[in-house]
Amino acid sequence: MKHSLKMLAAAAFMAASAIAAQANEFRLGLITPPPHIWSKAAEAFGAELAEASGGAHSVSVFPARQLGNEAEMLQQLQTGALDMAFLTVAEVSNRAPDFGAFYAPFLANDIGHAARIIQSDYARDMLDQLPGKVGVVGLGYGMAGLRQIVSRGEVTSAADLEGKKLRITPFEPILDFYSALGAAPTPMPLPAVYEALANGQVDAIDMDGELIWVLKYYEHADTIIESNHMMFPMVGLVSAKVWAGLPEEDRAMISELMNKHLSAVVASYVDKEPVWIDQIKGTGKTFVKVDPSFFGNVAETWNAKWSEKSTALEGLRAVAAATSG
Ligand code: BEZ
Repeated sequence: MKHSLKMLAAAAFMAASAIAAQANEFRLGLITPPPHIWSKAAEAFGAELAEASGGAHSVSVFPARQLGNEAEMLQQLQTGALDMAFLTVAEVSNRAPDFGAFYAPFLANDIGHAARIIQSDYARDMLDQLPGKVGVVGLGYGMAGLRQIVSRGEVTSAADLEGKKLRITPFEPILDFYSALGAAPTPMPLPAVYEALANGQVDAIDMDGELIWVLKYYEHADTIIESNHMMFPMVGLVSAKVWAGLPEEDRAMISELMNKHLSAVVASYVDKEPVWIDQIKGTGKTFVKVDPSFFGNVAETWNAKWSEKSTALEGLRAVAAATSG
């Protein structure tokens, strides 16, 4: 009897230590403000992970660049100082140029097509290179809306954008796009954009429909150009160092739940983008819808450059062709 009590106590102790060894207080960083779809998805992922792990794991979400800009967060992921992040693929493409292929002008015909490209097996397989090249594990993709242009002046043709200071997210593929157009692309992180447009530090911005509407960028603009010229993927990342220390069952739980919430992000943009565009149209600002011909030979110039820089361009084009339906 005494012996079995001892065995029971020992088993209980071992179970308690096992739970303690697997308990984690993860920190997840991102640049978007708290009400943004990405930030809400990060919170929902954290809450579900806490519940599914019986409270063993928790996730503290740090939105709005509280932990630094995306380049800084990527460095923190590499050293293990940060556990997780939802980052723009734009930032990842600065370290792994293959990902630049997602920004091929007009790769996606519309937001639903962008979702199918981002959720393809080919796109998923591209994540395999991240641990070796960048020191992070890519669990899956989310996205934001297609890119549009908001301008302080009237724009009736691409020539009106020539020489104009046009805010871009800081990454190379978009820099190359606007350079080919003859604009003066001005890299600027998201939190600085409203002020810069309001005070005329930039003449125009490259932005998506959600933020044009929700953050009211249209307030300081004369013309909104619906061009849908690029998709804008996001990626859910875990530090490779942190991942290496996690038991297989925790990895599986994190991967499944993060992917669930990233997929919900993609579905939200597919649902809501047409609504934001309609709301922007209703602001009374000049609204112009253009097609690829508006940009002249910019796409050809971009493609020639990026077929050298990214080995994924051809593969993603094949996915785009197969999913364009
Ligand atoms: C941007 O840089 O424009 C951006 C970044 C994150 C989410 C949406 C937009």
